[in-house]
Amino acid sequence: MTATRLRVAGELTVPGDKSISHRSLICSALADGTSRVRAILQSQDVHSTAGVLRALGVDIPTLGDDIVVRGVGLQGLRDPSADLDCGNSGTSTRLLAGVVAGSGVTGCFVGDASLSRRPMRRIAKPLAAMGASVELPAHGGLPMTIRGATLREIEWVNETGSAQVKSCILFAALCGGVEAKVIESPRSRDHTERMLASQGVDVWVNDESVLLHPASRLSPLDVTVPGDPSSAAFFAALAALAPDGELLLRRVCVNETRTGFLAALKEMGANIELHDQERIAGEWVADVGVKAGSALRGISIGRDAIPTLIDELPLVACLAAYAEGETRVTGAEELRVKESDRIAVVVGNLRSLGADADELPDGFVVRGTAPTLRGRVVTHADHRMAMAFAVLGALPGNEIEIDDRDCVAVSYPSFWEDLSTVTVS
Ligand code: S3P
Repeated sequence: MTATRLRVAGELTVPGDKSISHRSLICSALADGTSRVRAILQSQDVHSTAGVLRALGVDIPTLGDDIVVRGVGLQGLRDPSADLDCGNSGTSTRLLAGVVAGSGVTGCFVGDASLSRRPMRRIAKPLAAMGASVELPAHGGLPMTIRGATLREIEWVNETGSAQVKSCILFAALCGGVEAKVIESPRSRDHTERMLASQGVDVWVNDESVLLHPASRLSPLDVTVPGDPSSAAFFAALAALAPDGELLLRRVCVNETRTGFLAALKEMGANIELHDQERIAGEWVADVGVKAGSALRGISIGRDAIPTLIDELPLVACLAAYAEGETRVTGAEELRVKESDRIAVVVGNLRSLGADADELPDGFVVRGTAPTLRGRVVTHADHRMAMAFAVLGALPGNEIEIDDRDCVAVSYPSFWEDLSTVTVS
């Protein structure tokens, strides 16, 4: 029997934050001593980071809920005997490229078809400016060979606003023992800075820049990875779209460089409250309560807010189909170089299902018509596309088939299970 009204209920603890999980492995590997990491995300992307660190000589255990990593120190990596396979993961590639460049080792980064197309000149340029040798194919993607060298200090303007580029430079400087200043506005996610500071590194942050001073060692970590706000976003959206019920998303990371989606959803009219906010190992964490039944309205999101919800923008486009009026996102051209061209793919799928949406060069416009959506979503193996459209597929009356359900394993292997847990029909 088909439900006529969607109801959400209960509590959900989404898996650990992907960005913090990558960094917790890298920072544990580079520490002096033994680190402990709880609740790490066990997804394909994080397995890629673990695999590359193993290839560089670090004894990373099989990922589990509570792992112990014996660090090799800031100069303890060795030359890998095989290519460094980053799978689908841009974060693994760009962060570890910095580590390799500063460690005096040589590695060739490879990945799947999507990752191989993604732009690497944005990291090749600063790494070369620091003195590393970086070889790229003509198209500027992978395979990318990095030969570490004695590095020099750097001051770099982060033009793309990418946290991966910023972190690449910070890791290169850290491993290479030199100073780095990265200038950026608006600020991108700051998990690297927070984690390194918690390990005793002298990192200065203000509204426009990050300055890292050379460190002789990193203290080991003892962290519990908070829930991923980009994963929680799918369920917050589902609850906001549902006419009935209430959902509690437990222990979500609410670092202010990551809360743009919750702010946007609130501005659209959703009823959202944060409870029991506390700081754990340098990161703010809270329970996020979302009450169903609010009428949503369209909003505008511009360049300054983009880094705070970059991964949630396909979901914003999907939600906007059910928000009264127009939703306009601009200043988000970075979406074109994610796991897929997320502007073309989200708009193309919305239109083919029956929604009213248009591409902009740097974003999109969606007019909320509360459509009944029918058809097949072509994800281009993009995990966030599959999950964003799955939220619309959960709405009664919509008949949406996702061409590749398995690609959610990149960031959220238990997504389908969790989706069925919180929806009551
Ligand atoms: C990430 C940064 C973002 C984000 C990605 C994870 C990170 O990419 O899209 O999913 O962990 O640093 P950019 O920094 O390239 O925008």
